[in-house]
Amino acid sequence: MTENSFTPRVFSGVKPSGGLQLGNYLGAIKRWVDMQGKMETIYCVVDLHAITVWQDPAELKNGTREIAAGMLAAGIDPTQSILFNQSQVAAHAELGWIFNCVARVGWMNRMTQFKDKAGTNAEQVSLGLYAYPSLMAADILLYHGTHVPVGDDQKQHVELTRDIATKFNHDFKTDFFPLTEPVIEGPAMRIMNLREGTKKMSKSGESDMERINMTDDADLIAKKFKKAKTDPEPLPETIDGLAERPEARNLVDIYAALDDKTPEAVIAEYAGAGWGKFKPALADLAVAKLSPISTEMARLMNDPAEIDRILGDGAEKARAIAEPILQKTYDIVGLLRS
Ligand code: TYM
Repeated sequence: MTENSFTPRVFSGVKPSGGLQLGNYLGAIKRWVDMQGKMETIYCVVDLHAITVWQDPAELKNGTREIAAGMLAAGIDPTQSILFNQSQVAAHAELGWIFNCVARVGWMNRMTQFKDKAGTNAEQVSLGLYAYPSLMAADILLYHGTHVPVGDDQKQHVELTRDIATKFNHDFKTDFFPLTEPVIEGPAMRIMNLREGTKKMSKSGESDMERINMTDDADLIAKKFKKAKTDPEPLPETIDGLAERPEARNLVDIYAALDDKTPEAVIAEYAGAGWGKFKPALADLAVAKLSPISTEMARLMNDPAEIDRILGDGAEKARAIAEPILQKTYDIVGLLRS
């Protein structure tokens, strides 16, 4: 089969576990907004993925709305993109089961994110956490998604999606599923923790000071950048000078991503500048770009019924694409429909 025989279609998602942090915005959602209008775009709050680890039921509903509010506030437009939460489209779980029967245990055992999350406690984590990547493959392939914009940490999962599609197509002698491309590009593929430049920024990190939350106010954003770990050197004359300086590189990458520039352009502007100059400039830029989003998020969160309506409408549109693909999959597999 050729990889080009499918209509280009973007699919991506965010888990509603803890709020949104700057890595989610710069590594994913901001780039999703840029893809709108260029291709068909489907964006999902993946609540079924969230429950692979314990979620308080009341907080999960609210967290799902908050992620949706963040996406809307950042510029996802429900008239241009399909926006919905995963559990409202039952076909995700149904195709996920089929893929559990296609994916091999050996493949799952190689998933680095599972190993990181399970740690030394692998016997006690949920079976869902282990099967997580095959549900993710179902999310994407249920829409014949061809392009998946994600941060670098999701690369292995998108590669597994290709492996599942390849094995399914091979086993059933078909070319039904596309080989999806991960879209991992730009300066924000891997935004790092502000206190430790070799660890990625995440919602679950120990200290709140290591991440920027999309709900942080201007003072807190400024404080977090001011206290961000750096080294004593000023910014170098060229980008190569950042090679062994992960914390410095991270702040330059964040600046570049926020300002739609390359890291090279940021270095050209700030070559030789000390942190006393760069950090306040970064904080000002971050506040200018992020406060309109957090203000709009707060406004949207005051009207949960409206968010639920938008997600419900999106789910209906998603089902219209997903159902025929699921039915055809059942048919290929040989599952009888009366
Ligand atoms: P999640 O919810 O952990 O993260 C959502 C998106 O944000 C990106 N991201 C980052 N990018 C750069 N730097 C960071 N520090 C950073 N932290 C998070 C992630 O790469 C991701 O793109 N398994 C997925 C959700 C998912 C999904 C899918 C994604 C489920 N099904 C289908 C794409 C397609 C996840 O846990 O993302």
